[in-house]
Amino acid sequence: MYSNGERTSLMSMPKIIKVPRRTLLVLCGPAGSGKSTFAAQRFTATNIVSSDLCRAMICDDENNQQVNRDTFELFYFIIQKRLFLGRFTVADSTALQSDARRKLRDLSRRFGYLGCLLIFNIPPEVCLERNKARHRLVEEQVIAHHAGLLERTLLDAPYEGWEQVHVLGEQDMDTRVEIEL
Ligand code: UTP
Ligand code: MG
Repeated sequence: MYSNGERTSLMSMPKIIKVPRRTLLVLCGPAGSGKSTFAAQRFTATNIVSSDLCRAMICDDENNQQVNRDTFELFYFIIQKRLFLGRFTVADSTALQSDARRKLRDLSRRFGYLGCLLIFNIPPEVCLERNKARHRLVEEQVIAHHAGLLERTLLDAPYEGWEQVHVLGEQDMDTRVEIEL
């Protein structure tokens, strides 16, 4: 029997996610849910392939939705090159559409990679607050739309063939990711 204190400390222990080096870690969640922050705190910058950075690389503006097709062509192209070379890779995009997740899942399979989906289950109010506090503003209705897609994703993800699916809530932002040798 644990004392209250011990139980409290056990409950506050961070989650640990263990993955092999040949893993495609797919971040998934609404704008402002903390995906890029989570990735930047844990991984080398070059491990992370960010759709926003791809967008900025081709048009100097990470908000420009007019260049979506080229942005994602580049995004998948870089991921594919990394998987071909056996590099651990983090895909940083919202991945809230099932098509987008399927593409990433297919890529991971094609290269014999473990597909690990990390869903940021953060309430829209929190995403909105965080969005207001940063320089890159995302419109309020976009976050509402993302909240709906998130609900759908939480239902669908277990049936999409991922080797691992993890759902992170607000209290899980200290989750550790261990890459096994
Ligand atoms: P991010 O910029 O990491 O969100 O955090 P995101 O999910 O990648 O958003 P998109 O999809 O690219 O638009 C958004 C804001 O929230 C803060 C960050 O500092 C940033 O300003 N943040 C993030 C927190 O305050 N707490 C957290 O735990 C994570
Ligand atoms: Mg981001």
